[in-house]
Amino acid sequence: MLSRQIASKLGAYETPFYLYDMALLRQTLESVVYESKRYGYHLHYAIKANYDDRILATIREYGLGIDCASGNELQKAIEAGFNPKTIVYAGVGKKDKELRYAIEQQILAINVESLEELYLLDRLSAEAGRITDVALRINPDIDPKTNHCIDTGQADSKFGISYEEILEHTEELKALKNLKLIGIHLHIGSQIRELHVFENMCLKVNLIVENLERLGFSFRFVDVGGGLGVNYDVPENEPIPNFASLFAIIHNHLKVGDREVHFEFGRAIVAECGELITRVLFNKTTATGRRLLIVDASMTELIRPALYGSYHNIENITSESELPKKYTVVGTACESTDVFQENVSLKVSKRGDLIAIKSAGAYGMSMASRYNLHDLPGAVYSDQIE
Ligand SMILES: Cc1ncc(COP(=O)(O)O)c(C=O)c1O
Repeated sequence: MLSRQIASKLGAYETPFYLYDMALLRQTLESVVYESKRYGYHLHYAIKANYDDRILATIREYGLGIDCASGNELQKAIEAGFNPKTIVYAGVGKKDKELRYAIEQQILAINVESLEELYLLDRLSAEAGRITDVALRINPDIDPKTNHCIDTGQADSKFGISYEEILEHTEELKALKNLKLIGIHLHIGSQIRELHVFENMCLKVNLIVENLERLGFSFRFVDVGGGLGVNYDVPENEPIPNFASLFAIIHNHLKVGDREVHFEFGRAIVAECGELITRVLFNKTTATGRRLLIVDASMTELIRPALYGSYHNIENITSESELPKKYTVVGTACESTDVFQENVSLKVSKRGDLIAIKSAGAYGMSMASRYNLHDLPGAVYSDQIE
């Protein structure tokens, strides 16, 4: 873990801040690119996971495209130099202005999530005098065996169009004059650690593609989304996610002929390279005996624990004590859910110690807010530390 190795150099930076291990980011990118090339797979980075400029520039160097979820993400990707023809754009509620912008940019595909969106996009494309490339985001009704807050592909989910609805409207879909249906898109959820779930997904995709092609559609690609999980429990054991296993599963189970296969990884690329570094402000014990460690970060820098009950491994990286003690680590925000972890075992911790909250590179900074008018956290990159 980078912060532990360079703890003595971190004291000078204003806390809280995100510390990025740029060497690990590069190793992760090397791994995903190397493993994907074995099968000719196409990679997109889900920019929602972290849109930091240096991270984006590094990812672009490795030739990935982008998956975005808003007009502003799309604009950010284009400004960061990503080729529009490598960008896909999903989202259940795209505004007209966002759709118009995506049409103008002529991206690889707008991943459409409802029939009404499809009909609107057809109309807006006609107004713009364009034929827009589209992928149908289908809800495959698969349980991804992850935290229910981040599953996205079960029948009741707000994401994607139900397969049944598509089957009921095939003739209308074929009649859309200003759209070209070039792909099928799915994303079943995030932080998926039970990889057999992806086998079920492949079987569903096989059926969907086969049936729709029999009904007269013709797809150039299948985009199976992101979702590969990381090791939040002991990140040191697995700093780079197991892309090889996932790709082997997809290769063995997805039967889509010579169609392109696309992935949209977010967490798997950036989670482990980021840590939130925060400083201990105070110790105190509640009337019930709960020992609180109050740190200068909060849910405004890293909301995942408060939002989803997510676990992050936490370590005191500067304590000179070897004695472990149990703490409930809490932040500064005026919310009772602003708790990073209950009952975590840390070296005895005192005011001024630095605490690392690990595996925070994904959905950390990009979900930061200015609640309580907190400043947004800064970023420190490993290759710029003297
Ligand atoms: C459509 C879509 N693709 C890709 C991702 C990235 O997922 P992950 O970070 O789990 O790889 C998400 C995340 O929510 C998503 O909604």
